[in-house]
Amino acid sequence: MEEVGIYFNGIFVKVPAELTVLQAARQQDFDIPTLCHHPDLTSEGHCRLCVVEVGEYPHTRLVNSCTYPVANGLHVQTHSERVLKARRLVLELLLARAPQAKIVRELAADHGVDETRFQVADPEERCILCGLCVRACREIVGVAAISMAFRSPEKLVTTPFQEKSEACIGCGSCAFVCPTDVIPYTEKNGIRTIWGRDFELVPCNVCGNYIAPRAQLEHWAKITGDPVENFFVCRDCR
Ligand code: SF4
Ligand code: FES
Repeated sequence: MEEVGIYFNGIFVKVPAELTVLQAARQQDFDIPTLCHHPDLTSEGHCRLCVVEVGEYPHTRLVNSCTYPVANGLHVQTHSERVLKARRLVLELLLARAPQAKIVRELAADHGVDETRFQVADPEERCILCGLCVRACREIVGVAAISMAFRSPEKLVTTPFQEKSEACIGCGSCAFVCPTDVIPYTEKNGIRTIWGRDFELVPCNVCGNYIAPRAQLEHWAKITGDPVENFFVCRDCR
């Protein structure tokens, strides 16, 4: 495996050449906060909280560490004054965007940000438009049942034409990855409700516990080419 030597806050480390600065930092235990990064999904650099300073003084610049590749001899500052100032600004913007997002409030408090100078459009908003839900649906599930719609300030995550999505299989991956817990998702009497649709949950043939929506099991069967009945036994009973 090819390696490169880089400097985190002046400390020289060797890391695999294919990593981003964020991946390298985490591998080496340097703390960088993130909101729109997930290790199993493509990084798209939406939240900008992962900002770091790269280069050597005075020729440094701020970049998103989640999308910036490591390179031999790269100098990275994860907590310089300039970085902390940029993160505080990002958190103020996020507080204005989604004032009810608990994780944003916590991160803001950690960075000494108690309030925002920017206009709050919706005091009840929790979605930070990080796009993790959209990417999980597209990249992990492979169905693209939801997407970003409209332009700022009306931008939101929704189903096509804001109608019940036929593509949705009710797997709940979007709700699972959402850092602000804003995607409504309920389960009651063998029915999972998400994005305005009800999905019948299939019970395990052995223990009777619910496994997943029928639509999700049919999706797995289609991907694997196995009969759908093969998925009617839960993992614990196999
Ligand atoms: S619904 Fe959640 S995961 Fe999707 S963009 Fe909004 S905050 Fe991110
Ligand atoms: S984690 Fe890098 S921009 Fe959001």
